[in-house]
Amino acid sequence: MANIWLISDIHCDYGANYQIIKNLSPTLYREDVLLVAGDVAHRNALVIDVLSILRQKFRQIFFVPGNHDLWIVEEKFGDSLEKALWLKEELRKIDVCMEPALIDDDYCIVPILSWYERTFADPKDRPDQSLNNWVDFMACRWPGDASQQACDLLMNENKTLKGLPNHITVVTMSHFVPRRDLLPPQQYLYFKSLPFVVGSIKIEQYLRQIGSACHVFGHSHINVDKTIDGVRYVQNALGYPREDRKSRNAPLLRIF
Ligand SMILES: [Fe+2]
Repeated sequence: MANIWLISDIHCDYGANYQIIKNLSPTLYREDVLLVAGDVAHRNALVIDVLSILRQKFRQIFFVPGNHDLWIVEEKFGDSLEKALWLKEELRKIDVCMEPALIDDDYCIVPILSWYERTFADPKDRPDQSLNNWVDFMACRWPGDASQQACDLLMNENKTLKGLPNHITVVTMSHFVPRRDLLPPQQYLYFKSLPFVVGSIKIEQYLRQIGSACHVFGHSHINVDKTIDGVRYVQNALGYPREDRKSRNAPLLRIF
């Protein structure tokens, strides 16, 4: 049976991170599956390049774009939704999957396109000045300037799943955080405004609706592996070089 590995937030715009990905064994994971839960790079050519490198090392790759992957840094794209849909088509050509698919007869991996919503924050959370400098507000555009509906626009693109046999384990993946209780209370956060730009409860509703047993995600760079009300939630972010995680020596986490 294939092993399933997880990584997110590989931020290959940083040369040191790109090198970590390039240095992964070319032989060890040939029979395995890798879930990449968003934030590969800003430039579309680099996203494709990095995922092609990974595709050569693994039997199968699943990907959901993160906010950094949807920055408009090239005029090629009118808005971030267009870039997400372009990525889905281009990645299909190199056999990287952004849609639900089975692994053997055991698992169904379900990538969930999504975005964050302000309403995700607790009533106790208070935004601070740092929110004004959040780069997504400048670097992402949405059709009709509908930034408040970005989550709905992206989630409308998700394919519904019907009629899976009971023995199949559903593993869902999003870049953004599905539940506020997967983040520490605001006083322990380095970026105090994070709860306002980190997740959406719509992801949680969706994964429960389709019977997920395990949900993987990224974005907060706060790694976690815990089970809440019968669903296992896992984050394994590589993060920025300055975050200097011990896991940089062993960047992949095996989840199954
Ligand atoms: Fe992110």
